[in-house]
Amino acid sequence: MPHASFDFDKVPDRSLMPGEKWGRYAGLDVLPLWVADMDFAAPPAVIDALHRRIDHGVFGYTDAWPGLIDAVVEGVARDHAWHIGADWLVWLPGVVTGFNLACRATGEAGDEVFTATPVYPPFLTAPANSERRLVTHPLTLADGRWGWNRSAVEAAISPRTRLLMLCNPHNPVGRVFDRDELEWIAGLAARHDLAICSDEIHCGLVLDPATPHIPIAALDASTARRSITLMAPSKTWNIPALYCAFAIIPDRKLRQRFRHAMRGIVPHPNVLGMVATEAAYRDGGPWRAALLDYLRHNRDLVIDAVATMPGLCATPPEATYLAWIDCRDAGLDEPVKFFETAGVGLSDGTPFSMPGFVRLNFGCPRALLNEALQRMQRALHTRRV
Ligand SMILES: Cc1ncc(COP(=O)(O)O)c(C=O)c1O
Repeated sequence: MPHASFDFDKVPDRSLMPGEKWGRYAGLDVLPLWVADMDFAAPPAVIDALHRRIDHGVFGYTDAWPGLIDAVVEGVARDHAWHIGADWLVWLPGVVTGFNLACRATGEAGDEVFTATPVYPPFLTAPANSERRLVTHPLTLADGRWGWNRSAVEAAISPRTRLLMLCNPHNPVGRVFDRDELEWIAGLAARHDLAICSDEIHCGLVLDPATPHIPIAALDASTARRSITLMAPSKTWNIPALYCAFAIIPDRKLRQRFRHAMRGIVPHPNVLGMVATEAAYRDGGPWRAALLDYLRHNRDLVIDAVATMPGLCATPPEATYLAWIDCRDAGLDEPVKFFETAGVGLSDGTPFSMPGFVRLNFGCPRALLNEALQRMQRALHTRRV
């Protein structure tokens, strides 16, 4: 059932505008369910605010203004029960910029950065961008849930490890790490004196109200002191190309090091991105609630469909609009090519450090998703082995 006020069933013609997601398959009959943006127009409250700002016509240099800061501070308190100080905020043009800065602002060249795989690929390249060494350990699947192999992760941390990069909610496995897991991660960081960079860009996209997002820095004051939390409105309200994000860094010294790493190379966010951010955090709640309803149904469709696909399996994501699908038992040499030939464009697991998996983006109108799932089913059932 379409929501009374927001029409997520409408299929926008994205071929009319340049864009990565649909541009990759321009002129081909391939439904793109790959890169992490959704095929939905941004919330009306955001679009109206942008119109008002554009109609003013003057776009001079602009720092974050009190109304924007209040909207974020109040939004983080309202949605995640975390009471942050306005002076903890550092404005950024993007979250990837933020975790690259976190690598630069902690430790020194030659030190190690730990992250668990699979993970959003720029996590894996960030350490080398600042002469740090990447150390990884895979998340493990137990009883249908991805989680941490605690003793193996602890053993992977060395005296040279200075930073732990966390993705929560997790892209691509869709986990919302619970309090027990986060307390264990915070304890690990304390035992080894690690800084924590927590990418929480997907925190507005928790699908299951039973698993609320907990910012790791909100656990206690000592975890807050070692943490850089990255958030943005871009995933939740589908405005990634407006480039506005922020770091929340409670500790003054760590914040100073982070700002120092920015000097001369990191620009302000775009003023339109900041306008959209204020509107999203202040007035985007009803749209987000309706979106989450829609995405929950889409997630269930994907999980039910994958269960009927020979050789494929997936765990239901607790957050995000991304499904992480294990194709290793399907006997496909190159799953992404196979599904592309079938008319569906997915993300390859290899750059996430987990070959044999694909990531499916279900942030799209249901008619499009159903068609893509049918194409996948047909291709798997009719292929010659
Ligand atoms: C976990 C995660 N972090 C960061 C980003 C991108 O952030 P930005 O566009 O703000 O650099 C994405 C995009 O998919 C993501 O999934």
